[in-house]
Amino acid sequence: MRAANGAPERSEDMKVFIAGGRGRVGSRLADTLEAEGIEVVSGGLEDGIDVISGKGLAEALVGIDTIVNVLNTPRFDAEGAVSFFEGSIDTLTAEGVRAGVRHHIVLSIVGVGEGDASEVGYYLGKVAQERALRSAPIPATIVRATQFQSYIPVLIDQHTVDGKVLAPRSYIQPVALDEVVDLLAEAVTMPEPGSEVEIAGPDRFFHDDLFRATLAHRGDPREVVTVDGEGPVGAMVPRGAHRKGTVRYPITGIPTA
Ligand SMILES: NC(=O)c1ccc[n+]([C@@H]2O[C@H](COP(=O)([O-])OP(=O)(O)OC[C@H]3O[C@@H](n4cnc5c(N)ncnc54)[C@H](OP(=O)(O)O)[C@@H]3O)[C@@H](O)[C@H]2O)c1
Repeated sequence: MRAANGAPERSEDMKVFIAGGRGRVGSRLADTLEAEGIEVVSGGLEDGIDVISGKGLAEALVGIDTIVNVLNTPRFDAEGAVSFFEGSIDTLTAEGVRAGVRHHIVLSIVGVGEGDASEVGYYLGKVAQERALRSAPIPATIVRATQFQSYIPVLIDQHTVDGKVLAPRSYIQPVALDEVVDLLAEAVTMPEPGSEVEIAGPDRFFHDDLFRATLAHRGDPREVVTVDGEGPVGAMVPRGAHRKGTVRYPITGIPTA
């Protein structure tokens, strides 16, 4: 059943396209929405859909109310990341407008564009993604999350140079992935297009303390070297109103910041 403006009145009548629907976030979101009776179409390369070239997109978007964009790229250089994140917004917007999509939700990262975060190529890609989304004609919502708790080991690897982990003495407030997925699902079912919401975990740590404790817990002998961050100590944590998750980081005893 649809309201006068064409929007579905019940979640069971909604059809959602998840760009990146088989990824870490996308697959969990698909399960959550489907459990609420919402029809989900997964849009990834594995599904035969390419959000850069547009291959398969027009057919996949038929009857779609909402796009949730949880795409990712392995390109961490500014040129690759900007081209992927901006290009995918442009392609999804062009095909989305043709298909009558009413809402485009993007998952971004808390703090992108702040302080020395703006020097990181991947973050510049996320900034470009947000900018392209805001200037596109489909009503949009930006959900920004801090680093996922389950992603910390990957983050440690990314900070490893010649076997040593270089960790800034700046804040990090990791959040449980399931709580991010719940917030995305709320953005789908209780839409407030135009809003920007942030979510972070319950506890704030320093990067170096978190990395040391995580490595020790895993029996990983890598040394953590504290390096001075060039930007503000709180660039990657929320500065204003945000949802605070309740799931604590799975290792206890780490000093909070
Ligand atoms: N990791 C964190 O701590 C964190 C924190 C906050 C926000 N985020 C954001 O969360 C988002 C999702 O991350 P994730 O870890 O879930 O990513 P992921 O597991 O790497 O999944 C990315 C998805 O993008 C799809 N994809 C890539 N190129 C594509 C293309 N050309 N056409 C269609 N689909 C394409 C992949 O499809 P195939 O599998 O078919 O290739 C995959 O399903 C990212 O934008 C990231 O910035 C992450």
